[in-house]
Amino acid sequence: MAAKQFEDLLEPADCILKDAELIYYLDKGSFGRVDLVWFRGVLACKKSGNARDTEMTDRYHQEARMMHDLHGLGGAPMLYCVAIDKPIIIMEFLEGFNLSNFILEFERDNEAFVSAIRSLGKKLLEIHEAGYIHGDVHMGNIIVRRTSRGEIVARLVDFGFCRTMAPDRLKKAQITGDATVLEIFLSFGCHHN
Ligand SMILES: Nc1ncnc2c1ncn2[C@@H]1O[C@H](COP(=O)(O)OP(=O)(O)O)[C@@H](O)[C@H]1O
Ligand SMILES: [Mg+2]
Repeated sequence: MAAKQFEDLLEPADCILKDAELIYYLDKGSFGRVDLVWFRGVLACKKSGNARDTEMTDRYHQEARMMHDLHGLGGAPMLYCVAIDKPIIIMEFLEGFNLSNFILEFERDNEAFVSAIRSLGKKLLEIHEAGYIHGDVHMGNIIVRRTSRGEIVARLVDFGFCRTMAPDRLKKAQITGDATVLEIFLSFGCHHN
């Protein structure tokens, strides 16, 4: 089945809200909250901001578009739908701990920590090679879990600062293979527009 266009995922907030059944509150973000919801037959994550803030709706659209374009690359959550008129995003729920809680949970397991960082590195590389910069990589935006086969997998959330890379930078990254030093630096929390 062909991937849906971004525009096909835009819906009025009312339609989304009536289908999102709260399971429990997951976390608070810097601009809103994140809930685990039951949404049209699947577990999902609902990120929502202040409904009166129209600028925030634009920011959510930008974030949702980046997630849609990445289509799971770099472990980005899959986008399920986004409200046209309010800051609401429904996306894939990523199981696991954020990196700081993972470190606490696996305190004495250095091998698990190294595997998590190695997995994170691969995901960042994947994002950079596709021509994007996450722009807000920190402990809270990295979700790590141990799979049933014992593999440690890191994934990224929060694509609010994600941007496409200028083509000349991308070219340099491909040619030298290490231009991502700058990109990785920018990924680590340096916000740029
Ligand atoms: N798709 C997701 N699956 C699981 N947890 C998530 C997901 N998206 C966000 N979270 C949790 O909610 C927190 C806040 O979400 P985030 O997108 O980072 O909001 P903000 O942009 O306000 O920082 C994250 O740090 C993470 O713990
Ligand atoms: Mg965040």
